[in-house]
Amino acid sequence: MFFDNIIYRGYERLLTGEVRKDRIPRHIAVIMDGNRRYADRLGIVRNLGHTYGARTTEWFLDWCWELGVKQATIYAFSTENFSRTSDECAMIFDLIIKKLDELIHDPRTHERRMRISAIGEVHLLPSDLQDAIRRAGDATRGYDEMYLNIAAAYGGQREILDAVRDMAREVRSGELHADDIDESTISGHLYTNGTLIPDVDLIIRTGGDIRTSNFLPWQANGSECAAYFCAPFWPEFRKIDLLRAIRVYQVREHERKRAATRRIIDMLAACGHAELEDAIGHVRRAISRKDTATVAGN
Ligand code: FPP
Repeated sequence: MFFDNIIYRGYERLLTGEVRKDRIPRHIAVIMDGNRRYADRLGIVRNLGHTYGARTTEWFLDWCWELGVKQATIYAFSTENFSRTSDECAMIFDLIIKKLDELIHDPRTHERRMRISAIGEVHLLPSDLQDAIRRAGDATRGYDEMYLNIAAAYGGQREILDAVRDMAREVRSGELHADDIDESTISGHLYTNGTLIPDVDLIIRTGGDIRTSNFLPWQANGSECAAYFCAPFWPEFRKIDLLRAIRVYQVREHERKRAATRRIIDMLAACGHAELEDAIGHVRRAISRKDTATVAGN
């Protein structure tokens, strides 16, 4: 055990050093799956699995902070989760309230200037949880160094549907012209409202399932963002799992850049001399647009 610990710490230090040399994702979203299966495996009551899971969430936020991840979105309660027993739902709601109140009084929240907010159909949640969300929002309103976004009563398709309804209302009242609707208009109508919560760079899912379960489908750029699926249940998720996930994101970013460069070279090769000047103009504009997008996205 002692020896295992030394190996683990060494590996963690090595990976930390490696990932720090490259670009750190700005926004990580996590599907914290496997709390109940973890409890089943230990032979303890299932609700305790969620309690251990919430402890991991706290560590996860520490690691994000250490590594410079600015935005963390956690899937705390999906709209599908409402179908669980009322006892379990009540336990999860109480746990989120407890954690929010702890976060409000935790000096780390204020040292990190961490803004806490919720995304989802918050009005469907019990009123004491809505109050706790409001308290956490009020206590951290001015903060802008780190963002903790709690997805509660959240469903990705529903979020898009609500955005479409909002836009339809605005078109009807003349505030918005249908022809002006583009990607940024849609982003601006999501619960995440484009500006404060940028698109997701990396989605992590624990617990062995390889799907993103209606989580931030628009913000994940239609699954274009990097995804990391791992076997450990959420309560067992360790810093090295996060570091491995970030490494996957970094490899993915390099691949994207290589593919973009290859495309530009192919395009130039396909041009005759007469079209070359024109093509170079296009490429310059494309590169400058990409740089702007990169700066905005990071
Ligand atoms: C999924 O595991 C987990 C949840 C539905 C609840 C997660 C909520 C928390 C950990 C609270 C965190 C909140 C804050 C504010 C820190 P599961 O129940 O689906 O597990 P299973 O896959 O084993 O069934």
